[in-house]
Amino acid sequence: MRLSEDNKKQFENLGYIKINKFINDQEFYKLCDDLNHEIDKKFKENKDKIMQMGGSLIGNVNIKPGKKGELIWNYLKKNNIENIISNLTGISKNEFQVFIGGNLLFPFPKSYNQIFHTDGKKNPRKIILSLCLKEINKNNGPTELYEQSHKDEIPYWKFIFKYLLKRKYQLNLTVGDIFIREAFIWHRGTRNNTNDSRVLINFIISEHKNKNLNYNLSDDLSFFDNMFESNFRGKIKEFINVRLKPLYFFYKFFRSFLN
Ligand SMILES: [Fe+2]
Repeated sequence: MRLSEDNKKQFENLGYIKINKFINDQEFYKLCDDLNHEIDKKFKENKDKIMQMGGSLIGNVNIKPGKKGELIWNYLKKNNIENIISNLTGISKNEFQVFIGGNLLFPFPKSYNQIFHTDGKKNPRKIILSLCLKEINKNNGPTELYEQSHKDEIPYWKFIFKYLLKRKYQLNLTVGDIFIREAFIWHRGTRNNTNDSRVLINFIISEHKNKNLNYNLSDDLSFFDNMFESNFRGKIKEFINVRLKPLYFFYKFFRSFLN
């Protein structure tokens, strides 16, 4: 696939691009299906441990997909993804550092909307390529984001005034689609209203080695904290976020005046 000038302009202007049916291959679909089952099985087997992790009250924990995640990345590479990302972002592909991760949303009624946030700061720049293992639609926790919100580095209170009345973009995906966005765009994970857990695979591409990311690829599929730490302080913060949402909102809002 070749990118048009319009694709590049869209990415620059909106902060994202979605490419439908980027991979159309039965073997790839089977790989996604197998990984989805593997993650679901491990989630069910380790539920007690996962329920203690940061993010478990919101119902959204991080995953490392292990070996099969690497196989998916190899599929993308076979389809020229490195040149496409380089073309879109201007980052030379020799400078890519790729971290293979993702997140899992708990089944209904155990997940909640996240608060709007950016994934890290504007610098060092990171690009996130997302794909699904099973369809993601309005019912099972699509990511929501605000177009063009990647352009300026603004505090939370300014974000609220500038964007909250604007229309949100909702990311629906079918297997084979890819979605590429600036990590630094305001977004949130939303609630899963179905009885199945839902997985989003994320490839985080960083311009230079980013000390906040653990690039040690592990062969094992594993789960880890998301947004909140699993210590006492993290649990309190997450509890307030979930159960006392208006309070958490005011805390974030007024605290951002100090930044
Ligand atoms: Fe995020």
